[in-house]
Amino acid sequence: MIPGEEASMQDHLLWGRRETLGAFLSAFAAVALVREARGAARSGEAAVRRWLDGQQDIAEALAAGRLSGARWAAEVERLAREVEVPALMAVVNRSEISRAGPPFGNDPQKRLIRFRDAAGQPRRLAYGAALFDFQPHNVITPHGHRHMVSAHLVVAGRFRVRNFDRLGDEGGAMRLRPTRDYVARTGQVSTMCSERDNVHWFVPQGGPATTFDVVISGLDPGAPDHLIQAVDPLRARRRADGTLLAPVIGFAESSRRYTAAI
Ligand SMILES: [Fe+2]
Repeated sequence: MIPGEEASMQDHLLWGRRETLGAFLSAFAAVALVREARGAARSGEAAVRRWLDGQQDIAEALAAGRLSGARWAAEVERLAREVEVPALMAVVNRSEISRAGPPFGNDPQKRLIRFRDAAGQPRRLAYGAALFDFQPHNVITPHGHRHMVSAHLVVAGRFRVRNFDRLGDEGGAMRLRPTRDYVARTGQVSTMCSERDNVHWFVPQGGPATTFDVVISGLDPGAPDHLIQAVDPLRARRRADGTLLAPVIGFAESSRRYTAAI
C-alpha cells in the first residue's frame, strides 16, 4: 500500500457510506414529500368539500327565503376568498363534466359539473355548477336576469367585468345604473342578484379564460324558473339623473354588436 492510500481508502469507504446514507435520506425525503403532497391533496380536497357544503347551505337558505339575494352574494364573495382555486379545480376535474351543447353566437362553451360525494355517488345540490370556457373571441354579452342569482368565479385568466343595477323595466327597455367596470383575475368572483348588479357582461382579457359558475334559479314561486334578456347599454338613452334607459334586444343582435373588441 503506498503512503496515503489507506487514508484514501478510508475516505472512499466513508464517502461510499455517506453516499449510501445520502441516497437513503433522499429516498426517505422523497417518500415523505409524496406523503406530504398526498396529505395536502387530501386536506385540500376536504377543504373544497366543506366549501361546496358552504355553497349548499347558502343556496338552501336563499331558496327558503332565509337569505336575501344581496346577502347570498356577500356570502359567495366571502367563500371565494377562502377557496384555493387549484384545489377546487382538482375536485372539479374529478367530477362528472359534460358539454352543454354548441354555444350560441360568440358565447363561451358551457360544461356542466356533477360533483360526487366521498363515496363516489352524485351529489344532489340546491345549485347548478358549470364551467364557462372562453376563447379570446367569446363574450357573455350584457344581459339581465329574473327569478335567479349567479356567481362567476374566475378560475383561469382574467375578464373585464361590467355590471349595472337594474332599477326597473320600462316598455321594451331596462332602466340601469352602471355599478362596476373592472378586471377580475383568477380567484375573484362576480355575483349578481335582483337587488344589485343584475346586468352583467364578461369579456376575456389577454387570452383564454374560464369561470366556475354557481346558479340558483326558480326563486320566485309561481314565476318561470328564470328569465334572461339581452340588453344594449351602449345605445341607451341617458337621463338627467345619470341612469340609462337601455333597450332590450335579441341575443342574435347582442352577439353581433357586443364582440370581444368592445
Ligand atoms: Fe347571466
